[in-house]
Amino acid sequence: MMGTRYKCLVTVFLILLASPEISHGCEMEGVIFWHFWQDVSIQDVFEGVVVNRSTSNILGIQSVTQTLTNRGPYMEVLMLDSFFIIRTNESFKYYEEYETSHQISVATTFNCVGGSTNSLTFIITVNDTNNNDPIFRPDDVYEFTMIPPLPPGFQITNNLNQILVRDIDLTTQRINFEILDNSYFIIDYDASSTTPKEFLASLKTTTFIRNIPETIEFIISATDVDLTGDPRRTSNATIRIQSDGSFELPEELVFSQTFYLADYTEENQIRLQEPITLQQGYHEQVTFSLVSGISILDEH
Ligand SMILES: *[C@@H]1O[C@H](CO)[C@@H](O)[C@H](O)[C@H]1NC(C)=O
Ligand SMILES: *[C@@H]1O[C@H](CO)[C@@H](O)[C@H](O)[C@H]1NC(C)=O
Ligand SMILES: *[C@@H]1O[C@H](CO)[C@@H](O)[C@H](O)[C@H]1NC(C)=O
Ligand SMILES: *[C@@H]1O[C@H](CO)[C@@H](O)[C@H](O)[C@H]1NC(C)=O
Repeated sequence: MMGTRYKCLVTVFLILLASPEISHGCEMEGVIFWHFWQDVSIQDVFEGVVVNRSTSNILGIQSVTQTLTNRGPYMEVLMLDSFFIIRTNESFKYYEEYETSHQISVATTFNCVGGSTNSLTFIITVNDTNNNDPIFRPDDVYEFTMIPPLPPGFQITNNLNQILVRDIDLTTQRINFEILDNSYFIIDYDASSTTPKEFLASLKTTTFIRNIPETIEFIISATDVDLTGDPRRTSNATIRIQSDGSFELPEELVFSQTFYLADYTEENQIRLQEPITLQQGYHEQVTFSLVSGISILDEH
């Protein structure tokens, strides 16, 4: 009787010496202090097993808490035989669509042999890759109706008429906008968006635009700038600027000649040597009047 109890005590003492964590029961490969979190990282395009650790003395998983995300959860957490597994599930494909955080934390509580429980947290860092194009929203054709004349520096885009690009990559910092084939307008990045993953452009005139007789059409490009070091991605959109016809200002009037010769007759009449005409800007409402300053050329 006494001999057996003594042997028992010795065994427990030896196990305690061999493993300081034995009183907690559960054991996992790579884990010495259960209250320290474990760091792992995956790429945003990753699919599959994120964590696979051999374990012993674990009876099962009591509970799992994943960071609160907009959607998700994105990880499946389970024991497979005696291996502890964290793997991505179907929703992780859409992680960048909905999330801005670069980390997912998974806290698991295990039931251990002997009746105790142990908790362990994995912090999974999601490394960004530039795997998404900038996308023009709502689509890649923008139409603006303006009332000319437009002064130089006139802002075409505003709160109601935006040029908006969505780029869901986790580290996109800004979008570089360019106009490909028109010098009357200039486009710049507008940093005023407060919505994550959405980027605005500011479109302005560079010059005085008196009239828009027909729709002006040109192409703009959007190129993402991020922290991945991957090749940048570019998308194009079409801009159409048309005039609100009801407010159209007539074209600038241009006479065909800068001066006209006329004969002043004995009967006090002015007889033009050629008719006064306009070379540009004729319109039903154009009226002609003689203002002042007739110079008489003495042809004697
Ligand atoms: C994630 O990025 C970190 C820091 O740059 C790097 O050490 C790690 O190897 C990366 N992980 C993967 C899976 O690419
Ligand atoms: C986990 O690792 C073990 C040993 O390397 C392997 O046999 C097992 O298939 C792995 N499990 C998963 C789900 O990948
Ligand atoms: C992904 O895994 C989580 C946790 O297991 C689960 O709640 C969610 O429904 C899964 N989603 C999909 C699409 O499988
Ligand atoms: C954008 O338009 C330019 C000029 O038309 C063209 O060269 C380029 O390939 C286009 N890029 C994309 C991504 O469509």
